[in-house]
Amino acid sequence: MRMKGFITFEGGECSGKTTIIKELAKEFEKKGIDFITTREPGGIKISEEIRNIILDVNNTMMAPEVEALLYAASRMQHLKERVIPAVNEGKIILCDRYLDSSLAYQGYARGLGMDAVLKANSFALDYLPDLTIYIDVEPKVALKRMENLDRLGKKDRLDSEGIKFHEMVYKGYQEVIKMYPDRIMVVDGNQSLSDVIYDVKKIINDYLEGMNGR
Ligand code: TMP
Repeated sequence: MRMKGFITFEGGECSGKTTIIKELAKEFEKKGIDFITTREPGGIKISEEIRNIILDVNNTMMAPEVEALLYAASRMQHLKERVIPAVNEGKIILCDRYLDSSLAYQGYARGLGMDAVLKANSFALDYLPDLTIYIDVEPKVALKRMENLDRLGKKDRLDSEGIKFHEMVYKGYQEVIKMYPDRIMVVDGNQSLSDVIYDVKKIINDYLEGMNGR
């Protein structure tokens, strides 16, 4: 079931999602829209703790299956504690990553398969976003941005995967877009950040107008 007002943002590493969500939050505040911003894995205490386990650079032994299950566990707690209550209160939820990340990263890039990841996330399938914005950044462009992160010493366990992995994630997202064409809107993330933000705002405004007219 798609949940009204639940908007998720997807993309590979360094796609600019976090900055985009911050910009949207500023605009929503100005317009007096009732909203929350949150992220996966994380957003609440239990899920942030799970996030730390998953992204710990020392956890090199973590099996792909366990990685998928931990993301699913973090997701369910986050849904119950944060997303579902906000939906019930009629808020707009701007969520950095959701199920599509698990499909692209664990299902495709880690090779577990889409069906296995959907099974691992069976509880969450009852709570799908109403709109997903995918920021499409070519792996080469993303890699350049990641090199800057590296210089700042800010890379986590998944950032530290090689270019091959990130290319797989990119291909994974192309598969996910084909799976959910009605829900996922693609924005060209290779453009300047201001152009990306412009495109995203247009999609969101159209969505909000449609929602109010429904
Ligand atoms: P972030 O860097 O966007 O905060 O996301 C944390 C990392 O977790 C990022 O490398 C993507 C990854 N991830 C998955 O592999 N599967 C998932 O289901 C989610 C939500 C994130």
